[in-house]
Amino acid sequence: MSVIGKSTNIFWQECQVGKVDREKLLKQKGCVVWITGLSGSGKSTLACTLSRELHSKGNLTYVLDGDNLRHGLNKDLGFSAKDRTENIRRVGEVAKLFADSGLVCIASLISPYRKDRDFCRAIVPDSRFIEVFMNMPLELCEARDTKGLYKLARAGKIKGFTGIDDPYEPPLNCEIEIKQENGICPSPLSMAGHIVDYLEEKGLLQE
Ligand SMILES: Nc1ncnc2c1ncn2[C@@H]1O[C@H](COP(=O)(O)OP(=O)(O)O)[C@@H](O)[C@H]1O
Ligand SMILES: [Mg+2]
Repeated sequence: MSVIGKSTNIFWQECQVGKVDREKLLKQKGCVVWITGLSGSGKSTLACTLSRELHSKGNLTYVLDGDNLRHGLNKDLGFSAKDRTENIRRVGEVAKLFADSGLVCIASLISPYRKDRDFCRAIVPDSRFIEVFMNMPLELCEARDTKGLYKLARAGKIKGFTGIDDPYEPPLNCEIEIKQENGICPSPLSMAGHIVDYLEEKGLLQE
């Protein structure tokens, strides 16, 4: 019997079917690919391309996209530092469960604060947390401005926008960093290929 946070008198329920059984069934290892970067850096594009590439190789994936999750699970949260932290904590916990289910869970969220990403890394067992940093210059993201949000942030119509008047803390020790090469952004397919190679090297795409 124990106390966890605000939960009292709770017990852990074991089940006969475990993670290893599910991984055998799926012929892959559960893990989390966590894509972080500024708005407009290409996180969602990469997440979807990676999901498609892995799917066509016969690997089961699920994408947890920041914007999509704010339509449901996280719709009660805003963009204050406290709410951003809670947003990431919840997605980290969900990603941990998805990895435990045997899936390659691809999370694409700005996740601006280092300590929040480090929390997510810490709760995923066996170093199965692969942090991918979309290291694109603010000028590129702002020039893209697909959703028109940078324009609104510059005009002061959105407060607390990451990269404008809210901080982005780049990873210090990420597994994969994606940058422009000679001023050119690699194609989504080449970025996804790089991640697939990494997962393959680590033996995560087989049982
Ligand atoms: N590798 C890329 N090369 C060129 N344009 C890209 C690339 N990745 C994304 N884009 C474009 O940049 C914009 C923002 O991408 P998106 O994936 O929505 O970013 P984020 O999810 O990080 O906010 C979109 O218009 C997308 O088509
Ligand atoms: Mg996105």
